[in-house]
Amino acid sequence: MASNVSELTTYKAYLQGEWKKSSSDETIAIQSPYLRKTIGYVQAVTQGEVDEAIKAAHKAQKSWAELSLSERGAYLDKWADELVNNSEDIATAIMQEVGKGFKDAKKEVVRTADLIRYTVQEALHMHGESLKGDGFPGGDQKKIGIVERAPLGVVLAISPFNYPVNLAASKVAPALMAGNGVIFKPATQGSISGIKMIQALDKTGLPKGLLSLTTGRGSVIGDYLVEHKGIDMISFTGGSGTGRHLSKQTAMIPLVLELGGKDPALVAEDADMDVAVKSIMNGAFSYSGQRCTAIKRVLVNEKVADELVARLKSEIEKLTVGSPEEDSTIVPLIDDKSADFVQGLIDDALNKKATLVTGNKRQDNLIYPTLLDKVTEDMDVAWIEPFGPVLPVIRVKSDEEAIELANRSEFGLQASIFSQDIDRALEVARQVEAGTVQINGRTERGPDHFPFLGVKASGMGVQGIHHSLLSMSRERVTVLNLK
Ligand code: NAP
Ligand code: G3P
Repeated sequence: MASNVSELTTYKAYLQGEWKKSSSDETIAIQSPYLRKTIGYVQAVTQGEVDEAIKAAHKAQKSWAELSLSERGAYLDKWADELVNNSEDIATAIMQEVGKGFKDAKKEVVRTADLIRYTVQEALHMHGESLKGDGFPGGDQKKIGIVERAPLGVVLAISPFNYPVNLAASKVAPALMAGNGVIFKPATQGSISGIKMIQALDKTGLPKGLLSLTTGRGSVIGDYLVEHKGIDMISFTGGSGTGRHLSKQTAMIPLVLELGGKDPALVAEDADMDVAVKSIMNGAFSYSGQRCTAIKRVLVNEKVADELVARLKSEIEKLTVGSPEEDSTIVPLIDDKSADFVQGLIDDALNKKATLVTGNKRQDNLIYPTLLDKVTEDMDVAWIEPFGPVLPVIRVKSDEEAIELANRSEFGLQASIFSQDIDRALEVARQVEAGTVQINGRTERGPDHFPFLGVKASGMGVQGIHHSLLSMSRERVTVLNLK
């Protein structure tokens, strides 16, 4: 694992199949959240370069769409191999750029290669359908409908900082496999990792111009990309605020939004405490809680609340806190602004008389894991997504109260239910408004062939490999009217 930052690199953008400096002559310095210094520079592309990139993508997309699924798949399988061959280097970039533990960063790269290979196989087995006219009353059996999948054109893929490779490839791979061109806008704090991911793709000999990587701040180039008439579909993963903004910007094109969450853990009095504690710990604190699917509140039946809080306290105080180079669980947050935001939520709760069980300690952007008990509805931490290592515990009297509190949130990504009574758990699961409900397990995306979706402010549309292929293509119906 290479840890020292050598000569600072100024990375080029990947425009129309070439690695180029931007004519803006502007670059963006990328800070490492834990090294707290610049680790490289990326290009701030211009609107003109975006125009050219989109034009080139449309041009290349025509012949790309003519290739067979196997031919397209061959490029993607090679891409997966290249990622694995360069996983040490890419994992180091992820670790230095977004502060993720090295082991987790390496896992992200391997997971991404598996996702790409599975996307190829899934597309190879999506065969479309044919229908006969006489299937409908009065229909003619000499009318045969052939339903195939057709590409949409050029897909804009926008990814967040926290999975700079996996949540980028989970868009780029199905978009390419479905026959589209791609414009990839990585999170600024994730651009270097995104660039290394595309360097691996470039090594496959992907047709020039089919995909461009347009680095730049979302606040500067984002709206221009999203409103561009040459974009035929947008797949976005990020915060609910940005997602809501995007949904206002876009007109009449398919939009998949994977947004924020406030995933609750509903702990019933008959829960298996070992399972609940283990799942909540991993769900709430891995990568310092910087996961959209992190458990971000506990709704526990008051009969077992003392026991749960005591056990969480002792587990939290065993967590490793420190550098991602040592694979610490609690690592510095992505930036000081995020740490200020999390600290603000802790302060607000304590000012409103929440009980500090453990934590509330900070060094710059390193927030120590914090457990707050007796949290009440007037506290922001009961509702707001911290994207940091703070866990509020709300005591409830019944499943009904837990369900009501769970559903009163604007978010609806995932939820966990802990009960040893499967009928009870399923009954509660049915009533919780979330894309996915985990019974006796932590909230998490994946395995990546599972549908992944958020409801309410947590998103629109469905990801997961099969659904991403569907959302990035459309039905093409050809009707044979035989004599
Ligand atoms: P973010 O601030 O919303 O940024 C996400 C992406 O949007 C970045 O690439 C950002 O670019 C870009 N962007 C910003 N303004 C834009 C605009 N006006 N037009 C187009 N793009 C724009 O989110 P983040 O801080 O990277 O990620 C954390 C958030 O994402 C959390 O809320 C988390 O829950 C959510 N998330 C959700 C999922 C999911 O699958 N549901 C997964 C991961 C994260 P810049 O980086 O240049 O600003
Ligand atoms: O926040 C990223 C999100 O997609 C979480 O993925 O696999 O950590 O649940 P995972």
